[in-house]
Amino acid sequence: MALLTGRGSGNCNVAAMEFREVAVIGLGTMGAGMAEVFARAGLRVVAIEADPAALGRGMSILEGSLAKAVSRGKLTSQEQADIVGRVRPAGGFDAAAAADLAIEAVPERLEIKRQVFAELDRVCRPDAILATNTSSLSVTAIAAGTCRPGRVLGMHFFNPARVMRLVEVVSTVLAADGTQAAVADLARRLGKTPVQVGDRAGFVANALLLPYLNHAVTLLETGFASRADIDTAATAGIGLPMGPLALLDLIGLDTALSIMEVLRAEFGGARYTPAPLLRRLVDAGQVGRKSGHGLYDYAAKDNAPAVAASPTFPNGGRAETPASITLIGAGAGHQDEFAAAAAAAGISVSLDPAQPSDLAVVAASPTAPVLAAALAAGRGSDAVGLHLTGAGLRDDGLAGTGLAGTGLAGTGLAGTGLAELVSTRLTSAAAAAAAAALAARLGLATVRSPDRPGFLVGTLLYPHLADAVRMVQDGYAPAADVDAAMTLGCGYPRGPLELLDQVGPATALAVLQAMHLVYGDPALSPPPLLAEHAAAGLSFRG
Ligand code: 3HC
Repeated sequence: MALLTGRGSGNCNVAAMEFREVAVIGLGTMGAGMAEVFARAGLRVVAIEADPAALGRGMSILEGSLAKAVSRGKLTSQEQADIVGRVRPAGGFDAAAAADLAIEAVPERLEIKRQVFAELDRVCRPDAILATNTSSLSVTAIAAGTCRPGRVLGMHFFNPARVMRLVEVVSTVLAADGTQAAVADLARRLGKTPVQVGDRAGFVANALLLPYLNHAVTLLETGFASRADIDTAATAGIGLPMGPLALLDLIGLDTALSIMEVLRAEFGGARYTPAPLLRRLVDAGQVGRKSGHGLYDYAAKDNAPAVAASPTFPNGGRAETPASITLIGAGAGHQDEFAAAAAAAGISVSLDPAQPSDLAVVAASPTAPVLAAALAAGRGSDAVGLHLTGAGLRDDGLAGTGLAGTGLAGTGLAGTGLAELVSTRLTSAAAAAAAAALAARLGLATVRSPDRPGFLVGTLLYPHLADAVRMVQDGYAPAADVDAAMTLGCGYPRGPLELLDQVGPATALAVLQAMHLVYGDPALSPPPLLAEHAAAGLSFRG
């Protein structure tokens, strides 16, 4: 992102500023994490929280994190004591008087933030920088309400604050020259990588991440896929460190809802409209890990999402591996590979649709309905689509056809990625269960998907990639910054644009076109820049 030039404040030399003491206001998950980060980097920290119980909880989060690091041998007891010794808990704003930087992490409501900034403006030295860790609110609106708008910035950390390397440093048109650079230097001193961004709703990372997470909630709510399958599709299918539903519980559904509201106000449209289930869970107080319950239940399982180990079959029972299968519609080479793997597992494989078998397996393409291929082959209730993905996305590039690029030959299928099992309107429960048993026999992790373009993995992935392309297309951020934000802030192994190059712009375009045709949602309309790259054979990061 281009560094914004701000107007000079004229009163102090920001560039020469030294940060020795930081005030952190609000000791929830993020505030406690940020206080730990500052204290670990050798700064004195005043941890301010008006509610004594919340202050106690925040300090427990911080101390618990340090104790865990000691128990894992990553910190000595002396270092732990030194870090704790640098943190001074306090119940009132006056404790921030000596701070060089005051940063707030209070709830995402503009009126609350403004009150906090009014207090900070009152107690902090005139040369102190005031920062907000807001996820999406207007930093400009916050700055404009203070007497020092030139010295107010966004300093946006990612959860868990100690682990995620990104800090978005958000400037405004009011910022004094050098303020953004000074805060970026401070972020480097903390061991973080600053990305300098402009003041737009969601900045870079949340503007991309939240619509994708919200879409996952919609897929759950509308019965498109199960909770476990949605998260498995993202981890095993796309290679992301966490599934979207588990990640929402980590972020906090209340925080996620606030961000979605801000995004909707700025951008509008279905992609930015909060899923009703998200709102209902927030209404119910089930806001994720911090409340013990969100999209998953954390009470029973030591804070771990209760993901089912394997998909449940629609008939509720276990199915036998089919003794015979018929392969339909695969490209010749890959058909051979899959046939060889199935035959090696003792399954009789036919390529003749007319020959009776226990199961018809349609090598499925995310751009073409399985049902049409099954009917054309004269099969219906016993036909299931199989789309292999996952390993291809991470390592070999996602192939447009079902069986391509999955390394089926040779040493077997285990570890090659993810099989999407696609049921059509005609697929029987028995056939779906038999397909799951077949995949298990071949060592494939599975998710279930309806017979819709993109299947489950593509339905999550391609609109997300299109959003990233739009961000580049609209001149908001260059491709490298978008990718940096998502790798450093959200742990993506590759940024969305690198992932897009891996998949191939033409493949992404084809799937989005198919999705757009079926759903008619403008958010699925492929961005012109994607079509241009596909036509010209250009990559985004090349
Ligand atoms: N809180 C604090 N620390 C945690 C943690 C948590 N909930 N979960 C894991 N960690 C720490 C561990 O202690 C460990 O630290 P160490 O290396 O010093 O021992 C480190 O993270 C790695 O943990 P694990 O090896 O146990 O676990 P994983 O390898 O599975 O990694 C993860 C966990 C880092 C959380 C990884 O799953 C990940 O990167 N997930 C994506 C997180 C993400 O997207 N964050 C951004 C959310 S958006 C946001 O915050 C913006 C806001 O505005 C909404």
